[in-house]
Amino acid sequence: MADQTQYDVVIIGGGPGGYNAAIRAGQLGLKVACVEMRKTLGGTCLNVGCIPSKALLHASEMYEEAKTGFASLGIKVSPELDLPQMHKQKADSVDQLTKGIQFLFKKYKADWVKGQGRIAGPGKVVVKAEDGSEQTLETKNIIIATGSEPSRLPGVEVDQKRIVDSTGALTIPDVPKKLIVIGAGIIGLELGSVWRRLGAEMEVVEYLDRIIPGADGEVATAFQRSLTKQGVKFHLGMKVTGATTSDTGVKLTVEPKAGGPAETLEADVVLLAVGRRPFTENLGLDSVGIKADPRGFIDTDHYKTSAPGVWAIGDVTHGPMLAHKAEDEAVACIELIAGKAGHVNYDVIPGVIYTTPEVAWVGKTEEELKAAGVAYKIGKFPFSANSRAKVNHEAEGFVKVLADATTDRILGVHMIGPSVGEMIGEYCVAMEFGGASEDVARTCHPHPTRSEALRQAAMGVEGWTMQA
Ligand code: NAI
Repeated sequence: MADQTQYDVVIIGGGPGGYNAAIRAGQLGLKVACVEMRKTLGGTCLNVGCIPSKALLHASEMYEEAKTGFASLGIKVSPELDLPQMHKQKADSVDQLTKGIQFLFKKYKADWVKGQGRIAGPGKVVVKAEDGSEQTLETKNIIIATGSEPSRLPGVEVDQKRIVDSTGALTIPDVPKKLIVIGAGIIGLELGSVWRRLGAEMEVVEYLDRIIPGADGEVATAFQRSLTKQGVKFHLGMKVTGATTSDTGVKLTVEPKAGGPAETLEADVVLLAVGRRPFTENLGLDSVGIKADPRGFIDTDHYKTSAPGVWAIGDVTHGPMLAHKAEDEAVACIELIAGKAGHVNYDVIPGVIYTTPEVAWVGKTEEELKAAGVAYKIGKFPFSANSRAKVNHEAEGFVKVLADATTDRILGVHMIGPSVGEMIGEYCVAMEFGGASEDVARTCHPHPTRSEALRQAAMGVEGWTMQA
């Protein structure tokens, strides 16, 4: 028998968009439920994305450091890989973090309704539990926060053994001798790096003539050079036309996108990482008259969809598919529902690639500024001239600041080097306050730290960098 409950907000999806919306709604005193079909809250990010991948990136970086970096510091060790333990510590971290969200739900009185949610008309969400039983939630507002799933490639069948996607790449039981990554985006390069550090030979097949599309071109070139030095082999401008798997490996057929003879590449494991697509399957969008665009994204205006009382946030809507973008939209959406002034500054959404070296950016790239006809000045500083990076033997990379030629306002910052993912936040704050490069240039930074390179790059905008 259908059970009916009245809510202010029902959120479909318990990832960074959904769980942050649920917690913020609870904080603001709204009666809220979050419908999630996984066994744990946290969505892709916590369960099979950002968090487990970072656990493996950290552990594999430590392993490689111990193998090849410690000796020059005067530390002699003979590391031995314990892959089951590496997977276990990853799973333990995920377990603790997903439980943390469950705790926050309790604290802020947000209900987690377990099962698959479907919109069944205005103000109605039907939840189908694992045992097949259904309940209907009545609500004033529905938020769609169903996220995204890995895109597929015709002819390349993911079996999560020989051909894996980002989920399968997190649980490979033995280090493959050779790994081929399809797609030189963030996922391919991060997860590929994990397995290369643990001993796999790594090749990357990319359709475009460059890696990490969307990132600043100069940074992408430096990053490719660095990965090549680490032994990664790139096949750029190539398209994959098919894959055959056997008990021993995968044969990939690839051909130049510009035309030319096909070739066969062989690998023990192939990682398919050609992007993600919005997840809206069986969501009942029709029941409220919402039409996703041809790529599956839901159009919104300040998180409002075309259906009254139905909102959408995160990967299922347009913009970068990033957990922190979804989190900010979650808070803004709930605040708008609660009659407050919710707002997201889309000019200040940072991006980070957690490889070695790390890559981080915020704001406009040089290519975007040129295309928009904006006059800008550049300040640049290499980590090779930064004392802390130098003594740590991690002097690869640089910081580049792009500032408006007339007003000096910071328009974009692009970095490759040590710990830049942690440091980009400094420029996010500066940009959020409408800061000029001079504001950063005249801010005292501690010495000796890598963060001095951020200041020196800002000083470079007016040409007074202290560099030998
Ligand atoms: P992506 O869009 O960043 O990169 C996919 C790459 O695959 C592109 O370079 C594209 O040109 C290439 N490609 C597409 N079709 C191809 C084909 N047929 N043959 C060869 N290459 C092909 O997508 P990715 O890396 O899968 O990541 C998906 C999303 O997840 C992105 O929006 C990313 O920002 C996000 N993400 C962010 C992370 C972070 O913030 N550190 C970590 C993981 C994912």
